[in-house]
Amino acid sequence: MDTILLNTTNEDLKVAAKIIREGGLVAFPTETVYGLGANALDASAVSKVYQAKGRPSDNPMIVHIARASDIGQLTSRLSKTIVSLIDCFWPGPLTLVVEKKAGIPDVTTGGLSTVAIRMPDHPVALELISLSGCPIAAPSANLSGDPSPTKASHVIEDLTGKVDAIIKGDDCRVGIESTVLDVTGEIPMILRPGIITDIQIEAAIGGKVKLDPALFINQPRDEDSSGCADGFHPKAPGMKYKHYAPKAQMIVLEGQRNKVKKEIERLQKLNESIGNTVGVMLFEEKAFIEAAQNFFAQLRELDKQGVDLILAGALSDADGVGFAVMNRMLKSAGYHIVKV
Ligand code: TXA
Ligand code: MG
Repeated sequence: MDTILLNTTNEDLKVAAKIIREGGLVAFPTETVYGLGANALDASAVSKVYQAKGRPSDNPMIVHIARASDIGQLTSRLSKTIVSLIDCFWPGPLTLVVEKKAGIPDVTTGGLSTVAIRMPDHPVALELISLSGCPIAAPSANLSGDPSPTKASHVIEDLTGKVDAIIKGDDCRVGIESTVLDVTGEIPMILRPGIITDIQIEAAIGGKVKLDPALFINQPRDEDSSGCADGFHPKAPGMKYKHYAPKAQMIVLEGQRNKVKKEIERLQKLNESIGNTVGVMLFEEKAFIEAAQNFFAQLRELDKQGVDLILAGALSDADGVGFAVMNRMLKSAGYHIVKV
């Protein structure tokens, strides 16, 4: 298939919206990562997204809307908690998992009775959704298993020839995907950590928030849909798959910062002495927002350089944004952690 490259002009966005309306696939920028969009209410369009990404079909999509009030098309149950969250965080990187309304195709929600919804904080994404006149289902615009795309060039590398159009916008400001929060239960539960943290959510709703216990199991998961070796089943189906894997082998070093730096130097020298090329990923201490912004781009850059081994320093944050970055880093490394 020919993939057309579009700019963010109003004219080009009209072309993109027409493609979406006619059941095609368009990759577009959001504030978190690039998304690969299709009409969320068109089952055959959504099926094509799974094909283009090579994504398992039990892994549901996030449905993107351009006005908070459009949530009413997708769910009929709006609690006080949901309304407070929308007021505080939309548009923005918070996805809400709610009971779905009849009429949303099963392929969009991976056969679940719930639907994940977010209103992105990005003018191009919002304009595209508005012009399309339908909610847009969009997973991250990478090949399944690869690092998420935070630059237009990442999307072009992964999806050229597989989608109808790619909108070339700016680099993504947040850099990691949205926080996914299940608000169907009595106490909201974070299924995927992101830049909006449990503490911020608790302040917004004036109540408690839980974290999915599966987020704390630091070991590789089975890749098939039967779930995890240890019997823990993450509630967001996507959290159980192999993810964000660079081509190189990757090791995360955890411990006191100076010791980590020294151990990285030692391992780098040792590996280089036997002919391996080594890439190092070490963010400034406590610069969690910058780490989130740059994490996926650095992984892709090191892969491009063709390094054999990536040595990464763990971020020291038990919750918050550092925790969200660590969730991705540990998956990238296949939970290969060395304590120093
Ligand atoms: O920031 C983001 O969220 C980006 C941009 C494009 O908006 N999108 C994104 O989509 O990261 P994706 O498909 O890569 O991740 C969606 C996550 C997956 O882990 C999926 O399993 C989970 O959300 N999810 C979607 N619908 C769900 C539902 N009904 N119940 C539980 N988890 C759900
Ligand atoms: Mg993804």
